[in-house]
Amino acid sequence: MKKKSAEQLETEIRRHNELYFQKHQPEISDYEFDRLVERLRTLKPDSPVLREIPSDGARLKESGIKVRHVTPMLSLDKCYQEEDLQDWAEKFSGDLVATPKIDGCAVELRYDGAGRLILGATRGDGMVGEDITLNVRMIEGIPAKISSGPVEIRGEIYMSLSVFQKRKEEGFSNPRNLAAGAIKQKDPNKTKEYELSFFGYDVLGVACATELEKFRQLKAWKIPTVEIIEVPRDDMKSAYDYFLKKREQHDYETDGVVYKANLVSEQQRLNFTAHHPRYAIAYKFQGDSGETILKDVEWSVSRTGTITPVGIVEPVELSGAMVSRVSLHNLGLMKQLGLRRGSKVLMMRRGGVIPKLESVVRAGEGAAIVVPAHCPSCEAPTEVREDFLYCTNTKGCRRTQVAELEHFIKAIECDGFGDKLIAQLYDAGLVQDPADFFSLQQGDLLELDRMGETLAAKLLHNVAEKKKIPLDVFLRALAIRELAKHTSKILAQEFRTLEGVLRVTEEELSAIHTIGPVIAKEVVEGLKRKKGLIERLLKHVAVVGVGSPRPGAEGAETAPLQGRKFLFTGSLETMTRGEAEKKVEALGGEMASGVTKDLDYLVTGAEPGSKVEKAKKLQSKGGKVRVLSEAEWQKMLKLAD
Ligand code: IVH
Repeated sequence: MKKKSAEQLETEIRRHNELYFQKHQPEISDYEFDRLVERLRTLKPDSPVLREIPSDGARLKESGIKVRHVTPMLSLDKCYQEEDLQDWAEKFSGDLVATPKIDGCAVELRYDGAGRLILGATRGDGMVGEDITLNVRMIEGIPAKISSGPVEIRGEIYMSLSVFQKRKEEGFSNPRNLAAGAIKQKDPNKTKEYELSFFGYDVLGVACATELEKFRQLKAWKIPTVEIIEVPRDDMKSAYDYFLKKREQHDYETDGVVYKANLVSEQQRLNFTAHHPRYAIAYKFQGDSGETILKDVEWSVSRTGTITPVGIVEPVELSGAMVSRVSLHNLGLMKQLGLRRGSKVLMMRRGGVIPKLESVVRAGEGAAIVVPAHCPSCEAPTEVREDFLYCTNTKGCRRTQVAELEHFIKAIECDGFGDKLIAQLYDAGLVQDPADFFSLQQGDLLELDRMGETLAAKLLHNVAEKKKIPLDVFLRALAIRELAKHTSKILAQEFRTLEGVLRVTEEELSAIHTIGPVIAKEVVEGLKRKKGLIERLLKHVAVVGVGSPRPGAEGAETAPLQGRKFLFTGSLETMTRGEAEKKVEALGGEMASGVTKDLDYLVTGAEPGSKVEKAKKLQSKGGKVRVLSEAEWQKMLKLAD
């Protein structure tokens, strides 16, 4: 990507600050934001914009009663590499401890000499925060009284992931933003409704010699704490690995590991910079990001007719889940990224948040992405308005596509994919075509609202179970108008294999009893139209034919009527009933005892009787039985011979 000038970086950083702090709608991840800031710091260390960046804790514009912190609430220095961690640790002696870094909102709690909670305050700009005392009283885990004081306790207010799941529809992109809003409510009862939680991680004003001692003290006060572990100096990474592994089990978001010098005496010696204490550092999780290759861009038509580019990437693991598709949001953004096929891209997923294609690492040599002139779904012309691409035929377009997907899932009887989920998958650009169901990855599914890992795993399991599809089901699932249950069954029985069905001509089809020329034409044309889909599906599924091929077909066995059951009714003109039965058996077929669902053919002579009615009834219920005239029976024998 083109290197940005310092001025461009300044404008961009200011814009993202506003999006984050004023509008509460961040467009980029913290990681990406940090990268912009780092670049600006290198290019223009004295930029005034660097001084405008509020501390991480200043989530929302402060509006309530101000509280000056006795000790500033600083932010944490960050690193993304093990070497930086080692450099940092070399500056002091003694043990190290580590805790998971909670992605919530920092809070200060003051307890008086009698151990009563007298103040709760947000971090604000680090110097001055906002009084939220009444609200913190509503948070479970923050005791109104502790056994001694005075003391100041610091920690993180957060929203558990299970609570966030219930609240997602409020439009917040992550639990932290929602928690930040919840603690600022004017009515404390509202705060209560948000079911916030709290973890303590620091104690001020009580003499403790070590961090471990502080945590013991917090526990004695019955204050929930994050887990704290000792870190061996010769394997500092082990603490990171430990908390990374635990991350998935936690019902809260963590975005790294906080390392600290255990000895308070060392902490005092190291002191602070203007931003952060020197005795602590956050090693941020980076499993959330990964580089991969952009293979292609598909275009997904939304409910409103916007056509969104969807990046198809080599599957990459982000936060433990494989991701293969990524929304590129809009045409403008896609162009801004300068994507080409084969571009090396950086993908990022912050816990629980939709994966994003963050940036292009290397442009690549592949073809540029062509913006479609026609809607990929209904072929109507497209139009570009500002950053967006639209289908000009909004009404007719999306519904047809979604209906086709619904039909497919119903036909193959794949559980768990209700109409709502299918529409969601379609709108998210995850499933545009029935074959896409089979390439879904867990990470793709986790993008969706109300999708947990258990459900995602179950859905993938259900899809995987459908990798063998009986021929008649496969044919029906293609959504060709005249190829419904009955005709699909007949085709499957008659032609036995998918190859056989695909070779069939209109004439051959219309020769079959119950298939007229109109149906035959539609079926043959439909199969041709669906050639692309069939090929795509065959990459994922095996179509199971119906036993041996029909008599006379390629690959037919020496016993052409093998496995088929026959029954005769009425009097035959060309042979006696006994001769007919002998013929059946000589060609490998079997005689049936009556009109049952096992019966394949009912051959009718003159004055056939009630058996025909019975067979027709079975047919109308989707039974496989076919009624043959004597002439058709003769034709079959000729073919079999
Ligand atoms: S120690 C200088 N431990 O992360 C403050 N902070 O980005 C040292 N945070 O302001 C605090 N989890 O709000 C510490 N286990 C943890 C934490 C943690 C989350 C927050 C805290 C801090 C911010 C810095």
